[in-house]
Amino acid sequence: MSDKLWGGRFTAKAAEWVDEFGASIHFDQKMASEDLEGSIAHAKMLGKQGIISNEESKEIVNGLTALYEELEAGKIVFDVKNEDIHMNMESLLTEKIGPVAGKLHTARSRNDQVATDFHLWVKHRLPHVLEVLTELQAELLVLADEHADTVMSGYTHLQHAQPITYGHYLLAYFEMFQRDYERFEFNQKHASISPLGAAALAGTTFPIDREFVADELGFDAIYHNSLDAVSDRDFALEFLSNASILMMHLSRMAEELILWSTYEFNYIELSDDFSTGSSIMPQKKNADFAELVRGKTGRTYGSLMSLLTTMKSLPLAYNKDMQEDKEQVFDIMDTVLASVKVFTGMLNGLTVHKERMLATTQDDFSNATELADYLATKGVPFREAHAIVGQLVLIGIQSKTPLQKMNLSDLQAAAPQIEEDIYDKLASETAVNRRTSIGGTAVENVKKEILRNQKILEARG
Ligand code: ARG
Repeated sequence: MSDKLWGGRFTAKAAEWVDEFGASIHFDQKMASEDLEGSIAHAKMLGKQGIISNEESKEIVNGLTALYEELEAGKIVFDVKNEDIHMNMESLLTEKIGPVAGKLHTARSRNDQVATDFHLWVKHRLPHVLEVLTELQAELLVLADEHADTVMSGYTHLQHAQPITYGHYLLAYFEMFQRDYERFEFNQKHASISPLGAAALAGTTFPIDREFVADELGFDAIYHNSLDAVSDRDFALEFLSNASILMMHLSRMAEELILWSTYEFNYIELSDDFSTGSSIMPQKKNADFAELVRGKTGRTYGSLMSLLTTMKSLPLAYNKDMQEDKEQVFDIMDTVLASVKVFTGMLNGLTVHKERMLATTQDDFSNATELADYLATKGVPFREAHAIVGQLVLIGIQSKTPLQKMNLSDLQAAAPQIEEDIYDKLASETAVNRRTSIGGTAVENVKKEILRNQKILEARG
């Protein structure tokens, strides 16, 4: 007979390296405390339901509690021979309390056990994601408040488009992280469903109490189909998908932080503690951490694709392929928590070169729309106004004269409707402040939005 916990029907032993290939203990030990919690709840339920005696239940619970303490104290040593966290714990429990430990696995399978551990692991960590996101959003609001009236170039196609404020720009990211927050908040719903009691795939003949176990573990609901309970990894996919979208947002902002700290842009400077130097070029100050976050976005997408592909075509119910689900999620949880924290730190120490930002809106043609709009309000059809201003821009480019520096008579030669008041309209501050439509960049809008967003954060408590 094989020496495995499941070895009854086996005569031959696998080679050690084959065992190692099948084992998951080197990574699923991360779920050790969740495994013990799940077992404690299950053992209590078995006792309560009279499936095992109350004394047996107590003995098992005490043994598991002792293991919990040893785990916290870092005293537990896992053995690859016991394959995974579930069988390691069962064998440690057997060492501790003897054969009664064998009763723990009544009315349970590793299939519902691993699903339970994994749900709990994700469920326990999602609040941290929400926490770091809230910190990042709060930092964005502080910075946006400071820069509600900091005028800068807005871009489309990375070409100067229209002036905006830096505060308005920052609030765009606030909105993205708000949606991320809501997605992770929702993620909690599906992570909070208890699979325990589905057993291997079909449920169990024992009179178990699934609701009791779910309550003990802090789950909000139970799965209502045993096949789905052991096969579902949507909560993990949702996490990776939410993480991918969040990392995409961080990566876009990282790109701008990197670009805007170049000599050419010189809009911002990252603090020394979030920059690195070069081993050869003494003058260098590199935006390594922003680059790393941008880089880790690829790793995150990879994990999402990996798990999606693992799950694709898997027949119901459990298949060993699903052992590949955890490492991706463990890794991306660390990645997301660290990346968001790094971002909050980077924004906190950021120096913003306001004058430089403003200056780039004053020697360009990002006020061309102002002139076209001006003519349109004077009755010139917008298409015609667009063409007239296009001609003026061409002249301006050739003579290196921005629109606001052109003589009134020259402007009037292009369009007689233009009057002296055009110069105020062409100022970038005016262009910004006239954009009062809901969601527009006007300073008063930005300030109102900051207040609205502060209330959203306050409501989180
Ligand atoms: N280590 C396994 C996993 O992570 C646990 C479940 C094993 N179940 C089984 N029937 N082999 O998926």
